[in-house]
Amino acid sequence: MDKHGAKIVSVFSCKGGVGKTTTVLNLAGIYSLMEKKVLIIDMDLNSGGIAVSLGVDATKSIFNVVDDMSNNRFNTISNYIANYNENIDVLAAPKDPRDAFKIDSKYIDLIISTAIYKYDVILIDTTHILSPITLKVLDKSDSTLFMITNDPVDLKNARSMIAIFEDTEKKNYKVVFNQSKDTGKDYFTLFDIKTIIKHNIDYTIDRSFYIKDIDKYVIDKEILTLNKHIRLIKKGDVTRLTKIAIALLDKKKNNTRSEVA
Ligand SMILES: Nc1ncnc2c1ncn2[C@@H]1O[C@H](COP(=O)(O)OP(=O)(O)OP(=O)(O)O)[C@@H](O)[C@H]1O
Ligand SMILES: [Mg+2]
Repeated sequence: MDKHGAKIVSVFSCKGGVGKTTTVLNLAGIYSLMEKKVLIIDMDLNSGGIAVSLGVDATKSIFNVVDDMSNNRFNTISNYIANYNENIDVLAAPKDPRDAFKIDSKYIDLIISTAIYKYDVILIDTTHILSPITLKVLDKSDSTLFMITNDPVDLKNARSMIAIFEDTEKKNYKVVFNQSKDTGKDYFTLFDIKTIIKHNIDYTIDRSFYIKDIDKYVIDKEILTLNKHIRLIKKGDVTRLTKIAIALLDKKKNNTRSEVA
C-alpha cells in the first residue's frame, strides 16, 4: 500500500454508454496485475454496473455506508466492501436505485478518507449526469479520465464541459477518445474533434479494442484485461491501457485537485 494514500482516479463522460464502466474495470485489472490494491467505488448510484459485472455480493452498498455514518453506526469501510480477487475490492452502488437519491454529496469526502490508506488506487466510476455527487467526485480526484466518442452531441457537450473545467481551473483531467465502442462512427477526424472540443486528445482507445462478444465476459464475471485470451489477441491495446494506468500513478505529472462546483 502507498504510504501517501491511494491515487484517486475518476472516469467521467458527458454521454451515457461511452465505455466508462468498461474502462474502470480494465484499469482495475491492470492494477491488479501490477499487484496494486484497488478499490472500485461505483458512483453510478442509480444504475451502477460494477458489482453485477464482477459477480460480487452487493448486499452492502454506498447507501449503507452513508446510512450508518449518519446514524453513528459506521465502524470500518471493510464492512461494506466486496472482494473480487486478492487485489480488487468493490464498494457497490445501491441495490435499490431509490436509495441513490438519499445519498448526500457531503459523504463522498468521508467515504474516500476512510479508504484512502487501505489502497494504492481508488477507481471511481461515475455517470454522465453532472449531479452534486459527480461534481464532488471530480473535485476529490487526483486525475479524471474524461471519455469522449465520435458523436456530434457528445462532442458538443464535451466542449461545454471542458469550458467548465477551464473556468474552474480543473487541470487534472485527460481526454480519452474511445473508438473501440462504436467502430462504425467516424464522422469527425481527430483534427475535427480537437477543433470542436478545443482541447487535445490525450489518449485514444483504438477501434482495434472492439470486442464483439464482450457481453460473454460480463456474463462470466471476467475483467477483459485479466483474461489471457484478450491479453494475447489485444496485446497492443492492453499495452496502451497499461501506459495510461501507469501515467495515472505518476505523482509528478498530475496536477493538484481543484473545485469544479
Ligand atoms: N471495447 C469494446 N468493445 C465492444 N463493446 C464495448 C467495448 N467497450 C464498451 N462496450 C460496450 O458498450 C456499452 C457501454 O459501455 P459501458 O457500460 O462501459 O459504458 P458507460 O459509459 O459506463 O455507460 P453508462 O453511461 O450507461 O454507465 C456496453 O454494452 C459495453 O459492453
Ligand atoms: Mg457505466
